[in-house]
Amino acid sequence: MAEHPAYPVGLRLSGRRVVVLGGGQVAQRRLPALIAAGADIVLVSPEATPSVEAMADTGEITWLRRGYEDGDLADAWYALIATSDPEANTRASAEAERNRVWCVRSDDADRATAWTPATGHSEGVTVAVLTTDARGRDPRHTAAIRDAVVEGLRDGTLVAPHHRTRTSGVALVGGGPGDPDLITVRGRRLLAEADVVIADRLGPRDLLAELPPHVEVIDAAKIPYGRYMAQEAINDALIEHAKQGKSVVRLKGGDPFVFGRGMEEVQALAEAGIPCTVVPGISSSISVPGAAGIPVTHRGVAHEFTVVSGHVAPDDERSLVDWPSLARLTGTLVVLMGVDKIGKIAETLVAHGRSPGTPVALVQEGTTAAQRRVDATLATVAETVRTEDVKPPAVIVIGEVVQVGPGTSA
Ligand SMILES: C[S@@+](CC[C@H](N)C(=O)[O-])C[C@H]1O[C@@H](n2cnc3c(N)ncnc32)[C@H](O)[C@@H]1O
Repeated sequence: MAEHPAYPVGLRLSGRRVVVLGGGQVAQRRLPALIAAGADIVLVSPEATPSVEAMADTGEITWLRRGYEDGDLADAWYALIATSDPEANTRASAEAERNRVWCVRSDDADRATAWTPATGHSEGVTVAVLTTDARGRDPRHTAAIRDAVVEGLRDGTLVAPHHRTRTSGVALVGGGPGDPDLITVRGRRLLAEADVVIADRLGPRDLLAELPPHVEVIDAAKIPYGRYMAQEAINDALIEHAKQGKSVVRLKGGDPFVFGRGMEEVQALAEAGIPCTVVPGISSSISVPGAAGIPVTHRGVAHEFTVVSGHVAPDDERSLVDWPSLARLTGTLVVLMGVDKIGKIAETLVAHGRSPGTPVALVQEGTTAAQRRVDATLATVAETVRTEDVKPPAVIVIGEVVQVGPGTSA
């Protein structure tokens, strides 16, 4: 039976009867994909694992609580035989053969008429890996090949450009706080497929070095803007490259919509009729404190956190922040772009009721090799920034969470 290689095929099971015999671990592993395929699943088994039972409870499968009986496979298109009773498996297998029902056997691949490949998914494709014959079956090897392909596609180390669906346009990608491993899978894939990348100073700069030589990398800070504002010049550069039919990635630090002017770019692209995809990113506001051992919330300590921009001082008429209200909050304040103005910010918070002893941590260049954390209080932070020479980019965390760390319990 196994002299010839298996013939790979994708079964379209939507609405079609699939019979699963046995409700143990094998069924538990296989059922989710059968459910996702829309199959009309009948499970025949006296017992089932709690997860399989839950699938029956929610109506995803029909469960007949009994052992296999001859005739169970009569209406099936496909069967999975996975009981712990070898005799029942053999009888069911014979019935499948008689009725020409393709049948997988968990106990004896050699006698099965179908094999389940190791499968994985990546952006609209299913990767399925089969061994060529039953005797050479090495499930770990096929799973490892599947993992290598899926991971490679996800992280961009395996590049398979979308020839049919690929369209020019702009992907606004949140690159995360700086560590190249902290970009999303989708962001990394789009980066690997880009013709042009317009990148900010913050974010995963190391990833740019990995791009193939034909990719044009443009430093957003260096786009000449003459009589325009810098942001308009960036918008124009995005539009101009996309209009040339190129795939453009606008790589931004953190998340595009957290103090990232992302929506201005989305609006400019929409006005120019350029398709735009937004890929969220891990914002430094949460991840950088986390990387320095500070949770922005902690049970019994902080039930809220507020992310605020400190790029203008509290007494600046351009400020949109209600600092007196923030001073009255008891939770965590996370200040971005606040290194230069932290003296004024601390002063204002104390003036409006926050204790001068409130702990403060400044985390500079978080998640990168240069990460450093400096601790202070609201009373001392201005001085500490000077003496410790804290420089942007830094995330400033204000609140009791600063003192919560491993080994501290609320
Ligand atoms: C213009 S904002 C952009 C924020 C970004 N969109 C985000 O979600 O993280 C730039 C500020 O983010 C903070 N920041 C970004 N990356 C950082 C990092 N790796 N370490 C410390 N602060 C960072 C700093 O406060 C910096 O001044």
